[in-house]
Amino acid sequence: MPEARRRAAVLISGRGSNLEALIDACRHPAASAEIALVVSDHADAAGLEHARRAGIATEVITDAKRDNFEQRLNTALERFDVQWVCLAGFMRILSRSQVERWRDRLLNVHPSLLPAFRGLDTHRRALEAGVRFHGCTVHLVRAEIDAGPIIVQGVVPVLPEDDEKGLAARVLALEHRCYPLALELVASGRARVVDQRVVIEGAATAEASLLNPPSLGGT
Ligand code: GRF
Repeated sequence: MPEARRRAAVLISGRGSNLEALIDACRHPAASAEIALVVSDHADAAGLEHARRAGIATEVITDAKRDNFEQRLNTALERFDVQWVCLAGFMRILSRSQVERWRDRLLNVHPSLLPAFRGLDTHRRALEAGVRFHGCTVHLVRAEIDAGPIIVQGVVPVLPEDDEKGLAARVLALEHRCYPLALELVASGRARVVDQRVVIEGAATAEASLLNPPSLGGT
């Protein structure tokens, strides 16, 4: 008999495009996780519609006080028997005790190649820094913001014609591939934390190197 799917909750504050990607991926018959609950701290978060359309339970928790918010959140997570929590554009900072309570079962997606560009405005800062590669990271959450063991990273070259909007769009498209992969890795038990790093069993290794620019024009 196939193993029961791991029950995941997704926490959002807005658009919910990563939520949509996770919902789509979990529709696959072989997926190790199912999205059992979507929680938003904004009643008008557009992403809630993705959950409703997919017939997934939603909870809106708007308590401004962090203790109350987290208490209600944990009650909901327990009620839905949630094993994994995915932050996807969730704009609140969770308390240290909340992060510890969900240690190694709490994921986040960040639009940069961590540990570079923690915090906000990552695409603008990447352009200003003149990096040749940029991307996104899915990681396990620790109390320190935008830090924790890395599960998956996706890389895009920064193109000469890139502006903030164009770069953000290419990174977001990559997030939609990386987040479902990361959830599958943890939910299937193939990704484990060993000495503060994620070890992945049985994953194909990427040996190709990338240069940007790839070569001198015309040579
Ligand atoms: C994404 O860029 C994610 O990396 C960041 O917030 C954005 C959320 O987008 N943490 P969406 O709500 O998933 O569309």
